[in-house]
Amino acid sequence: MNILLVGSGGREHALSWQLAQSPSCAKLYAAPGNPGIEAHAECVGIAADDLDGLVAFCTAHAIDFVVVGPEAPLVAGLADRLRARGIATFGPGAAAAQLEGSKGFTKDLCARAAIPTAGYRRCTSAAEALAALGDFAIPVVIKADGLAAGKGVIIAETRADADAAVADMFDGAFGGAGAEVVIEEYMAGEEASFFALSDGTNVMAFGSAQDHKRVGDGDVGPNTGGMGAYSPAPVLTADLEAQVMDRIIRPTVATLAADGTPYVGVLFAGLMLTDMGPKLIEYNARFGDPECQVLMMRYAGDLAALLYAASTGALADAPPPAFASDYALTVVMAANGYPATPEKGGAIHGIADAESGGVRVFHAGTARDGNTIVAAGGRVLNVTATGRTVTEAQARAYAAVDKLDFASGFCRRDIGWREVAREAR
Ligand code: AMP
Ligand code: GLY
Repeated sequence: MNILLVGSGGREHALSWQLAQSPSCAKLYAAPGNPGIEAHAECVGIAADDLDGLVAFCTAHAIDFVVVGPEAPLVAGLADRLRARGIATFGPGAAAAQLEGSKGFTKDLCARAAIPTAGYRRCTSAAEALAALGDFAIPVVIKADGLAAGKGVIIAETRADADAAVADMFDGAFGGAGAEVVIEEYMAGEEASFFALSDGTNVMAFGSAQDHKRVGDGDVGPNTGGMGAYSPAPVLTADLEAQVMDRIIRPTVATLAADGTPYVGVLFAGLMLTDMGPKLIEYNARFGDPECQVLMMRYAGDLAALLYAASTGALADAPPPAFASDYALTVVMAANGYPATPEKGGAIHGIADAESGGVRVFHAGTARDGNTIVAAGGRVLNVTATGRTVTEAQARAYAAVDKLDFASGFCRRDIGWREVAREAR
């Protein structure tokens, strides 16, 4: 089949690499793609948020199947528009994508379906939020309701910080995303990411990962989109995964189906492993970035066929995902200044050298300047390796990082530290 992949980051580079290898993929296009994706797909210059352009391209090029990488076009209704034209699409429609697009929507759904999550209140004015804060212990979590590129969450350690966060959000610190605010009970525990495919009715577990959101070694400094990840996450044992499927994933998919807004695509559950079992922190309506890179590094089946089955109501008959038992670990190389003001244009050399010995360097924010690959975003490269242990995968990834010549870039040096420490015990 002819496939269009929408997106331009490291997540999409990893997806394009697997889709291009899939026996069921005849021709792969990417919109807009990036210099890494060019090796696996024909890149077409249509932006991921140009819904009209994407729909017109699919019609003109006999596209059978569209895989949507990022959340914004899903929340904007790309999947609805494609399905209305009979084009199979991996990704939820706008209504179901509210799981990522509105934190309040997700919390209300959890309440209706008795899904374990933090207690919460939705507030539409500063006065209402300030009054509600009195019902919560400190620390307390304050979230902008809408999409805020992972930045609209404040964990307030004092009541004064909480008051200030509420004031900031209603003053427009996160734009329209903060017109409504969700106040949440603080949950203590270790975080893990869990992925499940859904065809609207049937679900299939699709692996686990842990990422590192803070910019600095030791998990310090500002939050980022993710500085590295590894998969699987051993803290999410088979028993805990079964609990997550039964108590969180299945009731979510069943509730959306009953509402007449079935969820098609991948559900990315951010989990807190609390003393009382796994609880949902948030949902994303897409694969994680960089979590997808480590999942794809371990994947060994026909990805296009599996995602197509999920997109055509055929997941019940599809074989379970074929993941290697090895660990995969990815280190994000970011441009100096990330996450505030990343430096653009820095030259990168040595990618082929770094990729010797089974390492993959996925392009996230890169561009071509003549024959040179240069930085063109905050997160620039994802250096991804496998190993029989997280420790081994980490050593291989950093050995590859050290072969790269990217003078205006940096990375964390401790990706995987939790698991490396556990493996040393
Ligand atoms: P979110 O964008 O909702 O995933 O939140 C970003 C980060 O804030 C999460 O990865 C957690 O580290 C933290 N967080 C969010 N909600 C809570 C909560 N209720 N309790 C503790 N930490 C939270
Ligand atoms: N790495 C976190 C995310 O993709 O949201």
